[in-house]
Amino acid sequence: MREEGKGRVLVSIGSMDPEIWLRSIGSRREAVLRLDDPADPTIHYALVWKQPVGILSSLPNLKAIFSVGAGVDHIFADRELPDVPIVRVVADNLTQHMTEYVVWRVMDHHRQGILYRTNQSRATWCGLQQPPASDITVGFMGLGNLAGAAARALMALGFNINGWTRRPRRMEGVNCFHGPDGLPAFLAATDMLVVLLPLTPDTEGVINHDLLRQLRHDNALGGAVLINAGRGRLQKDADILRALEDGTLKEASLDVFEEEPLPASSPLWSHPRIVITPHAAANSNPEHLMPGMLAQMDACDRGEPLLNLVDRKAGY
Ligand code: NDP
Ligand code: OXD
Repeated sequence: MREEGKGRVLVSIGSMDPEIWLRSIGSRREAVLRLDDPADPTIHYALVWKQPVGILSSLPNLKAIFSVGAGVDHIFADRELPDVPIVRVVADNLTQHMTEYVVWRVMDHHRQGILYRTNQSRATWCGLQQPPASDITVGFMGLGNLAGAAARALMALGFNINGWTRRPRRMEGVNCFHGPDGLPAFLAATDMLVVLLPLTPDTEGVINHDLLRQLRHDNALGGAVLINAGRGRLQKDADILRALEDGTLKEASLDVFEEEPLPASSPLWSHPRIVITPHAAANSNPEHLMPGMLAQMDACDRGEPLLNLVDRKAGY
């Protein structure tokens, strides 16, 4: 049952299981999974992931759109968006998951996990030279909420950290670069590239062969490493394969892909120097997120400002 006077929530989250989201909303608001009337005046909020194109534009009393993820490219794929605020996920447990993923992948490449696993499969006993973390520079493309936390964790482990952003930014202990002009110097001083950018018209396809070529290859790792947990369409899958084959890249960890799910026929699956995870670096947890989202809806009803708003012009 709907609490008296509260607008309803449209839950349009594509192929995700809606049950846990509905359970997390509980009796705080009435939620619907589909619209009987495309211009339903009782819908005040929409909770979305890849909503059908045009579904939001006909709702006359929509007050705000809530992304169930930190990224919002899935919302902007709809060119008929109404002019209401868009709220994205900024949450401790999502940030913690991403930090764990980045630290896991950086440490595995740093400690030569791929080589040791290959050696184990051949029962080969062979100790390798291990450079210290202080000999390695990890460069983050995007130094926002998620990358900032991961960067701090890696700094505590002794890695040198570079960051590249759209606007000038300062972060203690981080060598900061920004904008297209700052990119070559950032890449030339980066051994391990961690991509945590949003997908926008400016960033689509940015991880291509030409960019990977500019990383520092002559380094203590014995080559450049790529880790992408941002979005698949930031990268050119074929360029990554080419870069691994021609020595531009030593190894890669990929959580996101141009096409998801990654087709079974993709050569990325079987490449011996790629570690694949299925867009699982940091999942949204409805039970953790929903109380904050419902509190924001109540605040919006009271005319208070919303938090974690998306800049529609910048696209993230
Ligand atoms: P934020 O908005 O906090 O940070 C985005 C960062 O990217 C900012 O530092 C921003 O620069 C930078 N940026 C944006 N556009 C450009 C550009 N054109 N050139 C250079 N830098 C740019 O986002 P989050 O850290 O919260 O999330 C980042 C992304 O991670 C999400 O958009 C999503 O795609 C992805 N993600 C992936 C998950 C997974 O499981 N794989 C889970 C959650 C998120 P500036 O500081 O100047 O604004
Ligand atoms: C997100 C994601 O954007 O899970 O939160 O990809």
